[in-house]
Amino acid sequence: MRTKVAIIGSGPSGLLLGQLLSNAGIDNIIVDRSSREHILARVRAGVLEEGMVSLLDKAGVGERMHREGLPHEGFSLAFDGRDHRIDLFDLTGGKRVMVYGQTEVTLDLIERRERDGGVTVYEASEVTPAGFDGDHPYVTYQKEGVTHRIDCDYIAGCDGFHGASRKAVPADAIKTFEKIYPFGWLGILAEVPPVNHELIYANHPRGFALCSMRSNTRSRYYVQCSLDDKVEMWSDDRFWDELRRRLPTHHAQALVTGPSFEKSIAPLRSFVAEPMRFGRLFLVGDAAHIVPPTGAKGLNLAASDVFYLLSGLLEHYQDKSKAGLDAYSERALRRVWKAVRFSWSMTTLMHRFPDTGDFGQKIQEAELDYLTQSRAASTAMAENYVGLPY
Ligand code: FAD
Ligand code: DHB
Repeated sequence: MRTKVAIIGSGPSGLLLGQLLSNAGIDNIIVDRSSREHILARVRAGVLEEGMVSLLDKAGVGERMHREGLPHEGFSLAFDGRDHRIDLFDLTGGKRVMVYGQTEVTLDLIERRERDGGVTVYEASEVTPAGFDGDHPYVTYQKEGVTHRIDCDYIAGCDGFHGASRKAVPADAIKTFEKIYPFGWLGILAEVPPVNHELIYANHPRGFALCSMRSNTRSRYYVQCSLDDKVEMWSDDRFWDELRRRLPTHHAQALVTGPSFEKSIAPLRSFVAEPMRFGRLFLVGDAAHIVPPTGAKGLNLAASDVFYLLSGLLEHYQDKSKAGLDAYSERALRRVWKAVRFSWSMTTLMHRFPDTGDFGQKIQEAELDYLTQSRAASTAMAENYVGLPY
């Protein structure tokens, strides 16, 4: 097989890049190790920045998002028994975020690719990028006992944190930066109306909690948990009791509970690999960087990487210039590090850390109180939350 761009990974970054390339007439093939069903069953992020919304519109997959998604103009920070609204719209001169699940984004992109006749190979094993340090890169994989090879001009490594792309780069060509946080997030989905019409990020001495949603009838809630916890240790009743205890009384009393239909624990980490380009291989999204979910930046960073890589590839194929491709890593990393910083600072502000004790709690409450009184501090938070410019 031969194509212009071989894309490893059919998550949001691979699918979005593939669709935008196809719309520009640049052929591409996506190869993923998982099945279509498995990819569509993953529950992850829920908040899209305007930059990502525009890219989905540009890809021609925004219709259902605009119909079913929930534009939000603010969110609440809860602490010390009270809450403070960050008015995103007012503080950023009219910006919003869109609450629309990553699962739905993925479904919209997969269905569009199928309608257009785009090629995706699912359940491919031993996916391996090769030859990217020269002029003839290729990707090999196994399927049903047969080895296949895709020759291409470029390889986009969109295969997430545990993927094959970053691992194919020689260790001495890559530098990694990492911070592991000493707790996880236990998340549930339940068919109950959200406790509040906007998201609530709660700081509490018992640990962080987040009230989010997928629609006006479906809620997504998280509580900070121990890294040793297992999902089986958290019955629905235990989850709801813990969430209630971490919210200010008026929210706790308004909380509608019900059976959960999804429950999982995610570890929290910050990770960046530099550079994001190795010859004709480009790392995109979680393959190059991970942020803790506080602040909802992971998915949105995947979108901005796609934006920079797409503009480089368009410049190359349409204008015969390599300048955009040469600038990809530096442009992407400048934005990545700002989101890494924001996610780290919001995680540090909102979670209970095992080693900082009551002193740490007081410092967090002082910073949160300062935020409620300072328009400058609230503006800085709002500006980062809605997403920095591409
Ligand atoms: P992925 O979504 O990871 O997609 C990678 C794709 O590559 C997958 O389809 C995978 O099957 C495929 N793949 C992997 N390895 C191989 C291989 N060797 N060969 C071929 N294909 C391969 N972000 C938020 O903002 N908020 C959240 O609440 C949030 N929760 C998260 C919870 C979890 C458990 C995880 C893992 C991430 C979460 N994130 C969250 C982050 C966000 O979901 C990611 O940033 C986003 O999915 C990145 O998209 P991606 O396409 O780069 O990678
Ligand atoms: C969601 C996840 C986040 O990490 C976040 O900051 C906001 C919302 C969510 O899954 O809805």
